[in-house]
Amino acid sequence: MIPQDFIHQLLDRVDIVDVIDRYVPLKKKGANYMACCPFHGEKTPSFTVSPTKQFYHCFGCGAHGTAISFLMEHAGMGFVEAVKELAERNGMTVPDDGQQARPEDGRRDHLVEVMEKAAQHYKGLLKTSTKAIDYLKGRGLEGKTAAAFGLGYAPDEWQGLAAAVADYHDPALEESGLVIVNEGKRYDRFRDRVMFPIRSERGRVIAFGGRVIGQGEPKYLNSPETPLFHKGRELYGLFENRRGIQQAGRAVVVEGYMDVVMLAQHGVNNALATLGTAITPEHVTKIFKLVDDVVFAFDGDNAGRKAAWRALENSLPQLPDGKRATFLFLPQGEDPDSYVRQAGHDAFEKLCDEARPLSDFLFDELSAKAEPTTPEGKVRLVKLVEPYLNQMAKAPLLARSLRQRLTALSGLSTGEERRRPAGNRPVRTVSANRAVQASPARIVLQALLHKPERLGNLAELTPGDEVDTAQLAAVLAVLREHPELTDVNRLEAFYKGRPEEVLVREAAAGLLEWLTLSDDYDSEADLRGAWATLIEQSARRQVHAFAGKKLSDISPEDRANYMAALKEKKLDRLSGVKPER
Ligand code: UTP
Ligand code: MN
Repeated sequence: MIPQDFIHQLLDRVDIVDVIDRYVPLKKKGANYMACCPFHGEKTPSFTVSPTKQFYHCFGCGAHGTAISFLMEHAGMGFVEAVKELAERNGMTVPDDGQQARPEDGRRDHLVEVMEKAAQHYKGLLKTSTKAIDYLKGRGLEGKTAAAFGLGYAPDEWQGLAAAVADYHDPALEESGLVIVNEGKRYDRFRDRVMFPIRSERGRVIAFGGRVIGQGEPKYLNSPETPLFHKGRELYGLFENRRGIQQAGRAVVVEGYMDVVMLAQHGVNNALATLGTAITPEHVTKIFKLVDDVVFAFDGDNAGRKAAWRALENSLPQLPDGKRATFLFLPQGEDPDSYVRQAGHDAFEKLCDEARPLSDFLFDELSAKAEPTTPEGKVRLVKLVEPYLNQMAKAPLLARSLRQRLTALSGLSTGEERRRPAGNRPVRTVSANRAVQASPARIVLQALLHKPERLGNLAELTPGDEVDTAQLAAVLAVLREHPELTDVNRLEAFYKGRPEEVLVREAAAGLLEWLTLSDDYDSEADLRGAWATLIEQSARRQVHAFAGKKLSDISPEDRANYMAALKEKKLDRLSGVKPER
């Protein structure tokens, strides 16, 4: 446990304005600083940072807290990690009473150190390698761009790194993927390659990509998965271009290292690249934390189209209402690197401006498959589109709008609309709207009543202070005790006159509507989506509840809950629901 005294000293020393400005550029306004809130989508700034009170507050969404909670909430750090980060930047050492230090912390620090040494080593060697310099110059790369991205050169030697580290036999070299051990021989993984350091969000070198000079296989060699580096999570350029992304208000996701670097050289400094993998849901979540608009750029060939479709599939469930994903296809044979070099900054930005909205891409591709010019084709279109709409758990409004579009295209009313027969449609009042937009709690209960055996797979729900979640937690507890009540009629009878009556009645009604009107109720997907939302809400609530308080006012027990909440928040969105069978 970090002593509270230390936390107070630290918060005294830290300037929250500096801390936040590194992530969200702030503008001075009167006594305070302002920006567009990084915690919710907005166009006019309602996020304020007070240098005198040393806290931030958003008038739009209510997010607030200290420098520590900002790093936790915005940069996704754990509590200890955030404290360490701030301490380090302010020349303080976190006192270590031996209890909290995890053995892996020291090991990670050492790996980071080794990676940093290697990066410096490669960087130095680039200056002396005419071969590498000529290659990069031949590709139009300027020295200052290479420097900005810390490019380097790994020499054509088996143990070149021996010159960079104290002990070439240090196991950390192997663990960090820099050295390969094979039949008792140790040798450098990267030889005779141009080196691209991959940095974490905080700017630490966590991996490398090495490009062969000229022709050769593999064209790019990447660091393996290590304790520091998980491909599916990291994005190349996130550290270097973070500010550019925030200023532009959008991120452009490209496929290659060179694309990011060359775009930056041409003033397009809001690009990110996946690292030789498809875009993962984790990537998408990370990007949307930073910015409201993302452009996925792909080559115009068949492979590019396929990759784009995969990106669509992985981003759909992560897309929140109010955020936008668009797709950009480059002219045949071009990638962003070659395109920006010949067409320039403005032309590339124009392509981004005109990129195709995710919804158009979705409908165009599936319409091409279904050919909805005949009744059969129209039905096929509905069948193809619906599963995608059902995944949009975080964007109920967009999903609703797309349903209407599907109805217009197919002439068939679907999903949401089918659930509410016309004569039965509620008048538009606030409460009626809430009924249409079923709450996650109701969806969870409805899906459980559909297949009650899932109850055993569901983790405990920490009841929140919203009526809704607290009621759900209560009902689930009762169902665990009394399995016979999973029969819808019995459950309704049991809850008659109790506070949970409405929740139960709506869940039951929703289920019955589904079962009478359609035979393809994908309750598993609904359950996962809604459950993940609840978990996330609960974590967020606990984080917020804690953020405004002084550490000394918080009991150790609450602190433990808080840490658990944060951890939970970072878990995969499907956490808490074990897959069936
Ligand atoms: P590309 O083959 O499209 O190469 O791979 P590129 O980015 O245009 O590279 P240049 O311009 O020829 O230098 C796109 C990305 O896929 C990953 C890399 O991240 C690369 O930037 N990749 C590609 C690998 O990881 N390994 C490979 O062998 C090839
Ligand atoms: Mn290229």
